[in-house]
Amino acid sequence: MDTMTIAIDGPAAAGKSTVAKRVAEKLSLIYVDTGAMYRALTWKALNNGVSLEDEYALAHLLRDTDLQLVQRENGQRVLLDGEDVSDDIRTSDVTNQVSIASKHKDVREEMVSRQQELVNQQGVVMDGRDIGTHVLPNADVKIFMIASVDERAERRHKENQSKGYDSNLEDLKEEIRRRDEIDSNREVAPLVKADDAVIVDTTSLTIEEVVAQIIKVVNEKK
Ligand code: C5P
Repeated sequence: MDTMTIAIDGPAAAGKSTVAKRVAEKLSLIYVDTGAMYRALTWKALNNGVSLEDEYALAHLLRDTDLQLVQRENGQRVLLDGEDVSDDIRTSDVTNQVSIASKHKDVREEMVSRQQELVNQQGVVMDGRDIGTHVLPNADVKIFMIASVDERAERRHKENQSKGYDSNLEDLKEEIRRRDEIDSNREVAPLVKADDAVIVDTTSLTIEEVVAQIIKVVNEKK
C-alpha cells in the first residue's frame, strides 16, 4: 500500500482528535484536525461581524482566508491569516456556534477541497464528521467513534477542570447534544457513519485501548 489514509469520524467530544493524533504519531502520518478549520472560520466571522447564517458572506470570508495547520513543539497549531488562533477557537463562544457555520454547502465545498489538498505522500489521519463520506471516500481505513453523551461530557468536564477552566457538567451535556443534533440533521454532508466504516465504541475504553483497536484495523488492511 502506498499512501495510507485514515478517516476518523464521530460525534462531538468523542475523543477523536486525541486518538487521531496518537495514531498518526505511531504510524508516522500527518494529522489533520478538520474541526479546527471550521472553528477558525467561525472565530473569524464572529470577530468580523459576519452572520453565521449568511452562507454567501461566510463562503466569501473563507475564500479570503489563509488557514494553515502547522506542527510546532507544543503540538499542532492553527494559523488564521498568519495568527495563531489555536486557543481562541476552543472557547465556548466558538464551540456553541461552529455547527451553524458548518451547515452551509458553499462553506463545506471550499473546506473539503482544502482538506483534500492536505493529503500528500506521507499519508494522513484526518478527523471530523464527513471524512469517510465526503473528504476521503476512498480512505484505506474508516473509523466511526462513538460514546454515550454522559461519558463524553464527563471526559470533557474532567479535561476542563484539569486545565483550570470553568466547567459545568450539565451545560456540557446540553452543548454536546445540541451540536450532534445540528451536525446530524443538516442537509449537506451530515454526520453519518460511512457504510464501510468500523464502529469503535469508546465508552468504557482508555485512549490507549482505542488507539490499539484502530491500529489493529489498520494492520488487518495492510
Ligand atoms: O471536531 P470538532 O468538535 O472540533 O468540530 C467542531 C465542529 O465543526 C463540529 O461540531 C461540526 O459542526 C464542524 N465540523 C464539520 N465537519 C468536519 C469537522 C467539523 O462540520 N469534518
